[in-house]
Amino acid sequence: MYKILEKKLLAENIYAMRIEAPRVAHAALPGQFVIVRADATGERVPLTIADFDPNEGSVTIVIQTLGVSTRKICALEAGEYLSDFAGPLGRPSEFVHEPIEELQKRRFVFIGGGVGTAPVYPQVKWLHEHGVAVDVIIGAKNRDMLIYTEEMARVCNTLHITTDDGSAGSKGLVTAKLEELITAGNHYDECVAIGPMIMMKFVALTTLKYALKTTVSLNALMVDGTGMCGACRVTVDGKTRFTCVEGPEFDAHKVDFDEAMRRQGMYRSQEQRAAAIEAEREAGHKCRIGLDK
Ligand code: NAD
Ligand code: FES
Repeated sequence: MYKILEKKLLAENIYAMRIEAPRVAHAALPGQFVIVRADATGERVPLTIADFDPNEGSVTIVIQTLGVSTRKICALEAGEYLSDFAGPLGRPSEFVHEPIEELQKRRFVFIGGGVGTAPVYPQVKWLHEHGVAVDVIIGAKNRDMLIYTEEMARVCNTLHITTDDGSAGSKGLVTAKLEELITAGNHYDECVAIGPMIMMKFVALTTLKYALKTTVSLNALMVDGTGMCGACRVTVDGKTRFTCVEGPEFDAHKVDFDEAMRRQGMYRSQEQRAAAIEAEREAGHKCRIGLDK
């Protein structure tokens, strides 16, 4: 069992939870994820790691309540326990294996879209701790949906904020800000984008025009997280890849985003089915309570 040390509401339906998980905290590297279950009957939910502290033995996850399983996790409070917290899973970001002096010569731009901003944070923090200057663009629907802005400002070189409605930062999409920065003469060697699949697709199309190496982190549907079930398969460079063991990060210019988005559509309907089953269970339970009286 894994104790919830702290729970914070970051934005509407988005929570950060700091979990006591010393083994995961010691082994974690930027780019990796965990699979979480609220209780023994809950679905396994893959979540990217938003922060980790080996000294405290804690790992922070950020969760958006999208369906039954995420709602179950978010209903838990500090002091309560998660039944499963498996990880760290997946491959760490490629840069953690590169010589630091090479990284320090390179200029990175990171893009975090909505909830995808949370997994950008440990990567930027790791680079900052290793003396690598990084620019960051954070995009959200409006000012209330912006997350991790203060944390990110502390570890990046320059932080650019965009909102779809212009209520904070520049009005427009993250791709418009990226183009603005590039055309203004900012030279980047590498771009990392994490957020909704549609955002990552359009970031990839934008950076392709400038031959800018781009990495994305794919939040595919996952079941076992061990490379056995095939649920997380995506097509990269014409080949089938399993996100859980071969990803979650891939070369953005080689990902078949349209196929990945079609598969996410299937996931949404599964979540809707699960929500309907849960509602029926609830109704049945209330009925039984009524009959008992
Ligand atoms: P959102 O819809 O508010 O989008 C965030 C930003 O992405 C927008 O402000 C915009 O700047 C940019 N964007 C959106 N559509 C775009 C387009 N067509 N072209 C260019 N830029 C575009 O984000 P949200 O509601 O927080 O997204 C939630 C989604 O993110 C969920 O589907 C969730 O599964 C996914 N997510 C992904 C990861 C990951 O690891 N890739 C992590 C967490 C969440
Ligand atoms: Fe089953 Fe990746 S989640 S193979």
